Amino acid sequence: MFYQSHQLVTGTVLVADDEVANRELLEELLSAQGFTVVTAPDGNSALNELRCRRIDLVLLDVMMPGSTGYTVCQQIKSNPETYLIPVVLATALSDKQARLEGIRAGADEFLTRPLDPVELLARVRSLLRLKLRTDELERAETVLFSLARSIESRDPYTHGHCERLADESVALATQIGLGEEEITALRRAGVVHDIGKVAIPDAILLKPGPLSEDEWKVIRSHPVTGERICQPLKSFRLVLPIIRHHHEKYDGSGYPDGIKGESIPIAARILQVVDVFDALTTARPYKKALSTPEALQIMKSEVEKGWWDAKVFEQFERMIGAAKAQVLIRSHASGI
Ligand SMILES: [Fe+2]
Repeated sequence: MFYQSHQLVTGTVLVADDEVANRELLEELLSAQGFTVVTAPDGNSALNELRCRRIDLVLLDVMMPGSTGYTVCQQIKSNPETYLIPVVLATALSDKQARLEGIRAGADEFLTRPLDPVELLARVRSLLRLKLRTDELERAETVLFSLARSIESRDPYTHGHCERLADESVALATQIGLGEEEITALRRAGVVHDIGKVAIPDAILLKPGPLSEDEWKVIRSHPVTGERICQPLKSFRLVLPIIRHHHEKYDGSGYPDGIKGESIPIAARILQVVDVFDALTTARPYKKALSTPEALQIMKSEVEKGWWDAKVFEQFERMIGAAKAQVLIRSHASGI
């Protein structure tokens, strides 16, 4: 273990080397310094370890049977899930060509054989310090969620809206058959899609009466502002298009870009159907909450007008119907 700015830092190092003696030596050296060490006898096992557990740094031998150190390094650096993990390649002292190839594969550091323990520990610590800072940036995601929830609390009538939206969008996306990555993005977007409202003054956001054209302009800026707020987060790559396009309409009459049909990302089309239903079935100072059949009837007419994706709406109706049937079954079973 080592300290940085009064903070205890630990890390898991993956050592991949086909020589047992090398693996044991590195394991002993790093474990003695408080690092958790995972070892792999070849490139494929190393990639497997990276898929199964959280690794903070990879120490790779260049020449290994199966996938070489270069191939493993290249795969780590081309995968969005692992590319921030520092990779150190161990090469022979005079092998300039090996270093060049390592640079091309995206290696962060090189160590020359025979390994110098002092140099090795210094480099591992320095790279882990850097990794720690990157991890802290990723934790900014948590801050964004808190900000989104505090914006929601400005308007007491939308209480619980973000969580409902996230849960229902994920349920609908699962039913439609979206991939795991898109579903994760949708869950995040459900919470943060309106984060851009942070820039809208209360006088406009909470105005009970009708809005002027200038006030509408301010309201319509929130998807772009939201996208800008979340842009620095790499883990939000797939969330950004959902934030930006959650107010587009299927016929192109929405905002901010006026794109239409399937150009609107499917995740955004799912989120907007769930969002509209939630807005219609929630009470506001100027309107009462509509019942589920009333809300679905209005949405049906909006689908006919060309606003929402008819196929997504059809799946949504089916989901609502199934949920209603579940409630009836539960009420029946409990004798209510
Ligand atoms: Fe919005």
